[in-house]
Formats: sequence, C-alpha cells, structure tokens
Amino acid sequence: MYVPSAILSTSNLLHNLKEIKNIAKNSKIMVMLKANAYGHGIRSTAMRLDSLVDYIGVARFDEAVALRKVGVKAPICIMQGVCTKDEVIAASCSNFELLVYDFAQLDCLDIATLKKVNVWLKIDTGIGRLGFKPEEAQSVFETLKRYDGVGVVTLTSHFACADYKDHPKNQEQMQIFKALAKNFPGPKSLANSAAIFNFPESHYDIVRPGISVYGVSPFQNITAANLNLKPVMTLISHVMSVRTMPKDSTFGYGARFKSTSEISVATIGIGYGDGYPRSISDGAPVLINNTICPIIGRISMDMITVDVTNCRSVKCGDIVTLLGNTLALEDVVKFTSNSVYDILTAIQLRVKFYWEL
Ligand SMILES: Cc1ncc(COP(=O)(O)O)c(C=O)c1O
Repeated sequence: MYVPSAILSTSNLLHNLKEIKNIAKNSKIMVMLKANAYGHGIRSTAMRLDSLVDYIGVARFDEAVALRKVGVKAPICIMQGVCTKDEVIAASCSNFELLVYDFAQLDCLDIATLKKVNVWLKIDTGIGRLGFKPEEAQSVFETLKRYDGVGVVTLTSHFACADYKDHPKNQEQMQIFKALAKNFPGPKSLANSAAIFNFPESHYDIVRPGISVYGVSPFQNITAANLNLKPVMTLISHVMSVRTMPKDSTFGYGARFKSTSEISVATIGIGYGDGYPRSISDGAPVLINNTICPIIGRISMDMITVDVTNCRSVKCGDIVTLLGNTLALEDVVKFTSNSVYDILTAIQLRVKFYWEL
C-alpha cells in the first residue's frame, strides 16, 4: 500500500534560519512553531532548532508543554497567554513566557511565583485581533512592574499587511509601535517573516519568523528561491494505477473533468484526507519522473487523478512530488483558494514524516 510521506530537510531548515539571522543581524530570533510547526511536526522541528534560537513561539499552553516533555530548553512564549493563575504558576516552573492581551489576563499575572515569569505586552496597533489599545500600554506596563511574579516585559504587536509592502497599514502600525517603543524600557518585537524582508526598521530586539523558516515565501509574487529560502518539506506519494481512457471520459467526483481525446491517467495515493487541498483546480502541477503533469478532476479523500499523457514512462509505484524541493508550494497554491499557510498546517498525521539528516 502506498502512503504519502513528508520528507523533511534538516539542512534546509538550518539554511533558512541562517538566512533570516543574516537579514535580521541585530535581532534575537523567536521561531514560530505553532500549529504543529506549520505542519512540520512541533517536537522534531523544535529539537533541531532548540539551541540555535533565542525563543520559541507557540499559540497555546499545551504546545509549550509538549516541547518541554521532549526536553526542549529554549524559552517558550505562549502567544495567546493564559487564563488562570494556576497556568501562570505552571508557566513560571516551565520557563514559559506569557503574552498578555487583556485585563483579565493581566489580573491572572498578579500572583507571587518562585521564579518570575517574563511577559509579552501585546498592543493592537492595527490588526484588530488581540491586544491592549496603544493608549493603555503605559498603565498596563506600570501595573505589570508592580506585580511580584512578573520579570522582563517585552513590548509586542503584529502586522496585518506586511506581505503587501506598499499597504498604508504598515506605516501606520510602525508609527504607532515606534511611538510606544520610544519610552519603553524593555525589549521590543514586531516583525514576522514578511516584515523581516520588507521593513528592516521593524526588526527591533526580537524578530518572529514563521513561514520563512520552513522555506516558503510569505509573498504572493516572490518565490522562496528568490528570497534564498529552501523548502523544508517535500510531500510525495506514489502512482497507484495508470490507465488509458477514451475521449469523453470523466474523472473524479462531480465528473468535473472530461477528456477531449484519448488520455493516459494516473491515480495517485494522496487526497484531502492527508491535507492536500480539496479546492485545487484542474491543471495544478505534480511532478512525476521530472515531468510536470496536470491534475484533472476533483481531489478525493485519498486519491487524485493526473493527466500523464505527455509522460508516457509513468508506471505504478513511481514517486510523485506534490510540493517541496523540486516543485515549489508557491506554484501549487496558485491553483487553490488556499494560502501557503493553510496548506502546510493542514498536512495530516496519517502522512508519514521522515527527517533527513
Ligand atoms: C504573533 C505572530 N508573530 C509571528 C508570526 C509568524 O508569521 P509568519 O509565519 O508570517 O512569519 C505569527 C503567525 O501567525 C504570529 O501570529
């Protein structure tokens, strides 16, 4: 039986980190490992980066706990913070740093701990999701400084449009952050991947790359290769069957694709149940025996169908690359309504994961 595999490259992961460090030379690095390290495997990715980064960023408490359980030592920042004082005590014991975005979370931090907890003071400079208002920053900071259990306070915010360099929101957000940063005594952190490339003035003390660490471009019109990033994940599967079908044959649910002449069709063992996006349209590329072949017909749960008429050498068992080293995710994503982010984070655990050394 053929099972799709995600082949993960340690050397590409380390290459990307080095590139990012090179761009944000004067900043510390918080590598974002949330959502199962963007689908790459949170534990295995963290273990490879632990000693090379200054911080790890996760969204939720359980993600941080999972990393400590496998011995990850770096400070881990929980980017959604916590809701109870018990979690604050647990964070203190596990060297988790806690983001605080509202007054309920602020109250939770009012508790004595054996070891002080470092806190990230989140300001909403314009993304409109989480965070104190800019005008609240000073008083919240003063409150935090009065709390016995709170250690270093880092000022932080998040861009809404950093992947669109000319979007006016970027300058607005940077102006607001800059004004706050001017009088703020602690570390500051603003930049995600796109901002690392687009706005050197947003780097401050700590940058927070996510997608770029995995070797994928945060931009729609710039490839990872152009940013000198290398994809960490290569998703492959195998040809399950090859058949010649007559003109007017239809393929897949909904009979979406109809052949206009005799056609050679390969069925490949991967589907939306593995995380391969169901929204992919006809014509999306896969790579078989060094030939780009177009997907035809709707993506099924465990299978896809591909026109291999121009790739006559195809046979059962051949390797098919869905995305990665030899087929950029950026080229696949054009055929979906998805983004590179949701394609990666959707990869399911029934796919077999292998790390190359
Ligand atoms: C607060 C925060 N910082 C940094 C990142 C990393 O963003 P990117 O993957 O675009 O580098 C994210 C990702 O969602 C985030 O939510």
